[in-house]
Amino acid sequence: DDRGRRVFDLLARDGRRDFHGDGRITRTAGFDGDFLGPTLRARRGEQVVVNVVNRLAEETSVHWHGMHLPARMDGGPHQTIRPGATWSPTWTVDQPAATLWYHPHPHGQTEEHVYRGLAGMFILDDDREAALPLPRRYGVDDFPVIVQDRNFSRSGEFKVTRNVFAGIGVLGDTLLVNGTVGPYLDVRTERVRLRLLNGSTARTYNFGLADDRPFALIGTDGGLLPRTARVNRVQLSPGERAEIVVDVRPGERVTLRSTAPELGVGALADRFAGGADRFDVLELRAARTLAASPAVPDALVPLDRLDPAAAAATRTLSFSGRDINDRSMEMDRIDFAVTRDTTEVWEVVNRDGTPHNFHVHDVQFQVLSVGGAAPPPALSGWKDTVYLAPQRPIRIALRFTDHSDPDVPYMYHCHLLYHEDAGMMGQFVVV
Ligand code: C2O
Ligand code: CU
Ligand code: CU
Repeated sequence: DDRGRRVFDLLARDGRRDFHGDGRITRTAGFDGDFLGPTLRARRGEQVVVNVVNRLAEETSVHWHGMHLPARMDGGPHQTIRPGATWSPTWTVDQPAATLWYHPHPHGQTEEHVYRGLAGMFILDDDREAALPLPRRYGVDDFPVIVQDRNFSRSGEFKVTRNVFAGIGVLGDTLLVNGTVGPYLDVRTERVRLRLLNGSTARTYNFGLADDRPFALIGTDGGLLPRTARVNRVQLSPGERAEIVVDVRPGERVTLRSTAPELGVGALADRFAGGADRFDVLELRAARTLAASPAVPDALVPLDRLDPAAAAATRTLSFSGRDINDRSMEMDRIDFAVTRDTTEVWEVVNRDGTPHNFHVHDVQFQVLSVGGAAPPPALSGWKDTVYLAPQRPIRIALRFTDHSDPDVPYMYHCHLLYHEDAGMMGQFVVV
């Protein structure tokens, strides 16, 4: 069609990086480069083709997290790529402008592959977003901020140490932003848009600015919010994204921080799950003279509300241990089928005393309630991943459109990757 076609090449390979600048080399993996991968970008209406080449010594896959696309293009555990092979999924982008991402999803190996560095951002554009006065010059006033935590051994290798008490996976003591330790960003405009991605395998962050100044929360997982929220914190569990616009003053330095996240797991579990941890994430260094930026509008993109009363099915997904509804993931078991062009309501609940979160493939959903209460601003737009505090059920509405395939499933799972790998995942088909 006249909207065009985008062809990307993505080569998964082993890498090496000196993260500390002291000669200690870490063995890593990345797409095209040594760690992480290029930001891919496409516009609504465009056809995307990605030629994914696997130059790793083992099988992997590449999943387009947050993307609405046919199940066989999804890059989940059923679309693995053998070493030396190429996989070329193609689909047409048909969803709002958003900050999505991509990462491997081989069953049982996802944590390890992501931890080594296999991940990248996938930005979608559309006319509605382009019509709003928002910073959108990539690398000028609009930046990807991929936040990950890592542990390093003395010799500089990545170290996979899991706290047995929390049982949530690896919590690192060193933060990387876009693969950089101790990063800063030179800001040359009055306002800067940060596309925050929690690319960590287990850790939840509670982002804010060091002086507690409010910022504009304009978008979440699936795109822009209906209205800008002026907040001073945004909490993201693994896999979640937020787009924020920060005001800076000439010549100042202001630090993006993560303060203690509210995990809702109780004092002791909280400490083991990273609930007491604080990090400086990224220092913003404003130039003495700043180019003008337009004010962030209050109204962003209207949201068509899904009607829960019209739901064709209601399901409960209960997370406990490493199971969902008391079952562990099995590659050849389909857990349920949903009917195309219908709306469903799912109630998702964490029955444990430790953190989980919930992610579903193919669709963006709307949060109807959190523990029975109306969702906060950060959950007022399209989402594909949401934190699950213990015993606080989340009700969501989802609508499955366009793509159906009785044979190839989509996944839903905990995005704490250690849990996902251990079986806290299920599969559904759209028919
Ligand atoms: Cu980001 Cu099924 O994953
Ligand atoms: Cu996903
Ligand atoms: Cu979990």
